[in-house]
Amino acid sequence: MDTIVSHTHIWTTLQNHQKYLASVHLRDLFALDSQRFENFSLEACGLLLDYSKNHLTTNTLSLLQELAIKTKLKNWIHQEFSGETINNTEQRAALHTALRNRSNQAILVDGKDVMPAINAVLEKIRPFVDSVHSGNWQGYTGKKIESIVNIGIGGSDLGPSMVARALKAYHHPRLKSYFVSNVDAIHLGEILQDLDPETTLFIIASKTFTTQETLLNANSARKWLVEKLGDDKAVAKHFVAVSTATKKVIQFGIDPSHMFEFWDWVGGRYSLWSAIGLPIAVMVGMDNFEKLLEGAHEMDQHFKTAPLLENMPVLMGLIDVWYNNFFGSTTQVVLPYDYSLSLFPAHLQQLVMESLGKRVTREGQQIDYSTCPIIWGAPGNNGQHAFYQLLHQGTRLIPADFLIAIESQYDFPGHQDAVLSNALAQSHALMMGRNTEETRKALTDAGLDIQLLEQQLPHRVFKGNQPSNTLVYQKLTPEILGKLIALYEHKVFVQSVCWGINPFDQWGVELGKQVASDLLPTLQNTQTSVTTKVHDASTEGLLRYIKNKRNYLPS
Ligand code: F6P
Repeated sequence: MDTIVSHTHIWTTLQNHQKYLASVHLRDLFALDSQRFENFSLEACGLLLDYSKNHLTTNTLSLLQELAIKTKLKNWIHQEFSGETINNTEQRAALHTALRNRSNQAILVDGKDVMPAINAVLEKIRPFVDSVHSGNWQGYTGKKIESIVNIGIGGSDLGPSMVARALKAYHHPRLKSYFVSNVDAIHLGEILQDLDPETTLFIIASKTFTTQETLLNANSARKWLVEKLGDDKAVAKHFVAVSTATKKVIQFGIDPSHMFEFWDWVGGRYSLWSAIGLPIAVMVGMDNFEKLLEGAHEMDQHFKTAPLLENMPVLMGLIDVWYNNFFGSTTQVVLPYDYSLSLFPAHLQQLVMESLGKRVTREGQQIDYSTCPIIWGAPGNNGQHAFYQLLHQGTRLIPADFLIAIESQYDFPGHQDAVLSNALAQSHALMMGRNTEETRKALTDAGLDIQLLEQQLPHRVFKGNQPSNTLVYQKLTPEILGKLIALYEHKVFVQSVCWGINPFDQWGVELGKQVASDLLPTLQNTQTSVTTKVHDASTEGLLRYIKNKRNYLPS
C-alpha cells in the first residue's frame, strides 16, 4: 500500500515553508522582484497564465515539483493517456483524451485500438449534422428542424450546454438550442411551450439510459410530440439518442441507426468530446466541433510533454494543492471576464467536485488531509456587484481564477475596454489591498471630515493578499475553448494524483439516487401515511406533511 502523501517528508517541508511565506504580503513579493511577472507567467497553446499574484517563490515551486515527483505524476499522466485501467474502482480506463486524439495514433484498451470506433462515430455525426443544416433531415410533416432540445443531466448536460452557450456566435442561423435537465416539470414545460413540434428535434443524452430525470423528461417529451403530431411514427423523425446502452435506447423506441454511441471509459463529466457533444456539433457545425477537439488535443500534448514547471495544468494543479492543504483555503472562485463563459463555473463544479470530492485513497485508505475545494463563480462584472465584497474584505483566503478574452465575440465601442479594465483592476486590488496609511491619505485627499474619516477608516481598509491566477486568450474560438476545458480537466487530474485519489468514479452520487427510489413508492401510495420503509423521524414527518397537503389523507 502506498504511503499517504501527508506522511511524506516533502509534505512536512511544505508545511514549514508555508509558515514562513504566510507572513509575507503579496505586495512585498512584488516589491522584492521587479521581474515577478516574467518569472511567474507561462505562455502555451495560445493561452497566457499569469500566476505571479500567488503566495509562492521559486523555492515554493521547487518543493511543489518535489511533491509531484514523489506522487509519480509523470507516470500517472503516461498511464492515463495510454488507456490503462486507472479508474480502479470501476475497472476502466479514463480515455476522454482519445476522443480528441487528432493524431489518430492507436490507443489500446484491453489490447484493442479504440481509434477506429471513435472515428466511425465522428463520421456518423458529420452527415447527420449536415442533413439537419441543409434541411434534408425533415420532421414528420416535412418541415426543416429549427429547435434542438438536449435532454440529459450532469455530464450529459453541463458540458454541452456550457459549450453551446460559449459558442453562440458560431450557431447555425436557423437553429436554436435548449437544454432540459431538471426533473421538475417547470423545466420541460417552460421550454415546450415555446416550441413547434413539427420543427423540433430531441436529443436524449444518457450514458446509462437509466437516469430517472432524463428518462422521465424524455418520456414526457415523446408523449407531447405524439399528442401534437397525432402519430407514434413521428418519434423516428424527432428523436435521436446518445448513449452507451444500445438495448435500452431501442426499448425506448429510438431506431439504433439514430443512436450515436460512446463507451464506458468516457466519464460523464468528461464526455462532451464524445457523441454527447452532438448538440454542440449540430449548433456550431462539424468543422467547429472538430476545432474544439483540436484545441483540446493541443492542450493534451502540452500536458503530456512539457516539463513539470513549464506545464500549465501541472502548475495550476500544484498551486491549488498549495492553498488547499497548506493555507487551509476551502473554496476557489472562477471569474470569467467573458460573458460567453457564463456557464463555465457550473461545468467546473461537476468536473472538480464530482472528481475530487473523495475521502479515501485509490487503495481505500482513509485520508487525513482535505481534498476538493468548493468551486463557485460567475461572470466577472456581475460578480463584482454581488459577491466580491467577500473577496475584498471578508476573512477567508479565496484563490481566484480570472479568465480574460482580449477581444469579445461582438464589437460595441467601449465595452471590451470596460471588461478588461475591470478584470485587471480587480486582480490588482485583491492582491495589493489598501493599507491604513494609504486609506487615510485617500480619504483626506477626498476631503473627508476628520471625525468621519477616523470612524470610517477601519471599514475602508483592504487587507489585499488575495491570490489569483489570470488566464488570457485572444478571443473565445472553438479551439481556445477546447484548450481551456482540457486545461481544467488536466489540472483536476494533477490534484487527484497529489492526493492519491481516483478522480473518475462518483459513488457518492449513488446513495441519493437509491434513497430517492426507495422513497418514491411511499410518496405515490395514496392510501396511507405509514411509509413502506422506516426512515428517520424527520423524513417520516416531512412525508406525512407533504402527503396531507396533497390531499391524499384527510387533514
Ligand atoms: O450525477 C451523477 C452522474 O452519474 C454523472 O456522473 C453523469 O454525468 C450523470 O449522472 C448523468 O448520467 P447519465 O449520462 O448516465 O444519464
